[in-house]
Amino acid sequence: MLCMAFFNIDEGREHMPLVQLPYTSLAVENLPITEVREMVSVAKLNNHKLNIIGFLCANSKYFLQSLEGDKSSVDSLYQKILQNRLHHSLVIRQCSEIEFPTFKDWSMGAVLDMERHRSIVEKYGDNEKFEPSMLSPVERLGLLTEFSKLRKAIV
Ligand SMILES: Cc1cc2nc3c(=O)[nH]c(=O)nc-3n(C[C@H](O)[C@H](O)[C@H](O)COP(=O)(O)O)c2cc1C
Repeated sequence: MLCMAFFNIDEGREHMPLVQLPYTSLAVENLPITEVREMVSVAKLNNHKLNIIGFLCANSKYFLQSLEGDKSSVDSLYQKILQNRLHHSLVIRQCSEIEFPTFKDWSMGAVLDMERHRSIVEKYGDNEKFEPSMLSPVERLGLLTEFSKLRKAIV
């Protein structure tokens, strides 16, 4: 019985822990929003194939994304994201094992117009502007979770 908790019997391979990895980054100057939208469309397909859930909030200056999935897939995707020229100064804010995904309805959800949602942004942290590096881990997750429920706002 103990083995069943650690091995996926159906697929005959070791069960990988599910992790949640939120990170923040700074957008390049004059961020080309059309490229961000294209990146999100490609990411939807990639994440679906890899069984990864990504939820992204962004404005013209900052990105905040949470990646959820098995540890090795999340690690290798993060390496690709790290190299993307649309942003820099990435900081991993946490890396926790989770039992269930938080953003399970999305392969890649994204809110790219944070300014339109000031009433939500000001609920998290002291700043009325979206500046994810200034938030606590709980505030970051709260903000992402609230946006993930705003279906109409998603690109
Ligand atoms: C803020 C940000 C978030 C990204 N999130 C994802 C993601 O969740 N999934 C994904 O496949 N690519 C994501 N990308 C794009 C990757 O960096 C990369 O361009 C993409 O995975 C395609 O890589 P490939 O051409 O080597 O397959 C993101 C890029 C940025 C700037």
